[in-house]
Amino acid sequence: MIDITVKAGAAAKQRDDAVVLPLLAGRKLTASGSELQQATGKTVSAFLRKFDVSGAFGESGTLYDVGGSFTQRVMLIGAGEEKKLTLQCLRRLAAKAARALNKGGARDVSFYLPELNVKGASLGDRVQAVAEGVWLGLYSFDKYQTKKKENNRELRSVTIMLPSRRDLDEGEAAVARARGISSGTNLARDLGNEPGNVCTPEFLGEQALGLKHKKLKVTVMDKAAIEKAGFTALLAVNQGSAKEPRFIVLEYSGGAKGEAPVALVGKGLTFDAGGISIKPPAQMDEMKFDMCGAAAVLGIFKAATELNLPVNLLGVIASTENLLGAAAYKPGDIVTSYKGVTIEVLNTDAEGRIILSDALAYAAEQKPAEIIDFATLTGACVIALGSQASGLMGTGDKVKKGLKAAGDHSADRVWELPMYEEYQEQIRSEIADIRNIGGREAGTITAACFLSRFVDDIPWAHIDIAGTAWNMKGTDISPIGGTGAGVRLVTQYLLSRG
Ligand code: BES
Ligand code: MN
Ligand code: ZN
Repeated sequence: MIDITVKAGAAAKQRDDAVVLPLLAGRKLTASGSELQQATGKTVSAFLRKFDVSGAFGESGTLYDVGGSFTQRVMLIGAGEEKKLTLQCLRRLAAKAARALNKGGARDVSFYLPELNVKGASLGDRVQAVAEGVWLGLYSFDKYQTKKKENNRELRSVTIMLPSRRDLDEGEAAVARARGISSGTNLARDLGNEPGNVCTPEFLGEQALGLKHKKLKVTVMDKAAIEKAGFTALLAVNQGSAKEPRFIVLEYSGGAKGEAPVALVGKGLTFDAGGISIKPPAQMDEMKFDMCGAAAVLGIFKAATELNLPVNLLGVIASTENLLGAAAYKPGDIVTSYKGVTIEVLNTDAEGRIILSDALAYAAEQKPAEIIDFATLTGACVIALGSQASGLMGTGDKVKKGLKAAGDHSADRVWELPMYEEYQEQIRSEIADIRNIGGREAGTITAACFLSRFVDDIPWAHIDIAGTAWNMKGTDISPIGGTGAGVRLVTQYLLSRG
């Protein structure tokens, strides 16, 4: 990730390759823009009068060699109407500007974006959003492209400009938060984007072990250890795969000794072909992303260790492939899970809830303060919410409330679906304790009902990231591929949990 620092000073005095100034709707400049306009005589005013920049959100115009200033170029980026601005607008503008400058050969640049006011947001919030936008927007995954793109003048540093020297401490703390959050998010993206022949359960275990920190302990169980521990539901799904499963436990002790941890549980299906209830071929390649719950957990641990978060965390990841080998589990099989609950398998493609049953039961046994799980669990969630919000369900009212607020703040959003008792009826089995599918109706909720049987009375939030974990169109802050969904959400939640 490139360098980001903070500084205070006038735009006309900066010697960088570019100065980026926001332009509000109606060609209205912010304070630093107006100051620069005065310092540079008629140039900027003439530009604004003559050229096609209206200040509409996202449009931009660049002036070169502006007399009266020291910079090579002044980039005006349209911010739209000030009263409509959100922190996500700042992330998007910062990402757009950084990407354009990265392509355009600027190396060291200054951003005046925190001058944009966002209702209810502090200067620190705004600086954090701008820094996140730069780091998230510049992310790319091109390690498998053997012909490197020719660009030897890539962006090297961004200086985020603050109104006054008095703001430096707040600005630095904000950039530090953004750094932890972005490096966690970009790790989750990397893991999601790795193909299924590289990102295997064993690989996820190695990645977890690679997160080195003095307050972090990582245990990776191989198949023999999993058999010994009795994670039988995970083993059932693993039967069809030639690769060994892994059960990964992470313990981060940043909080008080003896304080109950927040448990983070992740679905780590490194490839989901559906098993014997095989999926149709269209877009099956995207099922390499079925480990994005696990990636979110690892990303949050990376952020937590980098930020030295003052909390205790327990991470639990169950990982396997879901394939169709000769020993694969079959529709009609009854699996006895780690907890002892018997599961009638009616569709081998509803495998995520099966492996999560062991991970959740194990997590609940450790008596955490609360459990948050992440899973690309149901296609139904993609239909219900699309890619704009993850599905939120669960029993913990306080944790759900905190997640909703953190989701709005970070724009890694969640939307709650109800878990009325009546839905539990849909997973009743005639022959075992529960069945693993609940029929066509409310598929996202019945999957959550299944999970609810394994968390005891620990306050629990379930986040279905099926629609948000990857994006095949790309957005301003995320190129095509893994998005790192869940990392900004929960790191922000942990930062504000107090
Ligand atoms: N990993 C899938 C869910 C999924 C599908 C996520 C498409 C993102 C995009 C999960 O294992 C699955 O196959 N779920 C089934 C459940 C059904 C058989 C009850 C589904 O949603 O179709
Ligand atoms: Mn499946
Ligand atoms: Zn799956």
